[in-house]
Amino acid sequence: MTTHFYTASSLDGFIATEEHSLQWLFEQDFDRDGPMAYPKFIERIGALVMGASTYEWLLRNQESWEYTQPTWVFTHRDLAVPEGADVRFTSGKPREAFDDIETSAPGKDIWVMGGGDLAGQFAEAGLLDEIWVQFASVTLGSGQPLFTRPLKLELLEVARNRDFVCAHHRVVKDH
Ligand SMILES: NC(=O)c1ccc[n+]([C@@H]2O[C@H](COP(=O)([O-])OP(=O)(O)OC[C@H]3O[C@@H](n4cnc5c(N)ncnc54)[C@H](OP(=O)(O)O)[C@@H]3O)[C@@H](O)[C@H]2O)c1
Repeated sequence: MTTHFYTASSLDGFIATEEHSLQWLFEQDFDRDGPMAYPKFIERIGALVMGASTYEWLLRNQESWEYTQPTWVFTHRDLAVPEGADVRFTSGKPREAFDDIETSAPGKDIWVMGGGDLAGQFAEAGLLDEIWVQFASVTLGSGQPLFTRPLKLELLEVARNRDFVCAHHRVVKDH
């Protein structure tokens, strides 16, 4: 079982604008069947993990809930759940919820969708294994950060997918 942080970023390291817009991302060209593309990635995923802002973005922007996997949302608040969605709310340190997250994804991997600080919390706890970032051909100047803490990484793979530079890293753990 592997835990992945798989996301797209501006070249200057932001995954959304200050106002949580992803319009800049949808203006980029990406081959869904090209290197590091989403359909192949999602096949291996048994559970999703995200912070409250990412979840609220999905609630605002998806016509209907598209994930069949259990989705773990880190939040301190009571948030709405779309009809038919398997959404489980949690809070506190990732380690405290991790056994339950792992159990909810039997034989499959875990996808930390974002944001960058939550992915960093997983990394700090030694619970993040791989990072996949598609860097778009745009800078934002400010926004929601890709990473909020130092991580030691090993580069596994790099590729071009149309407008994106795709980088795949392993998180180097100290223990
Ligand atoms: N570019 C991409 O591919 C991509 C991918 C994913 C997300 N995004 C976007 O990036 C933005 C990320 O937003 P963000 O940086 O604010 O991150 P986020 O992780 O989505 O949300 C942060 C919020 O999650 C809650 N949270 C985080 N850690 C927690 C913990 N340990 N326990 C309890 N609650 C916790 C807190 O909310 P409360 O305390 O308010 O509950 C916190 O304010 C979103 O706009 C999202 O749509 C982009």
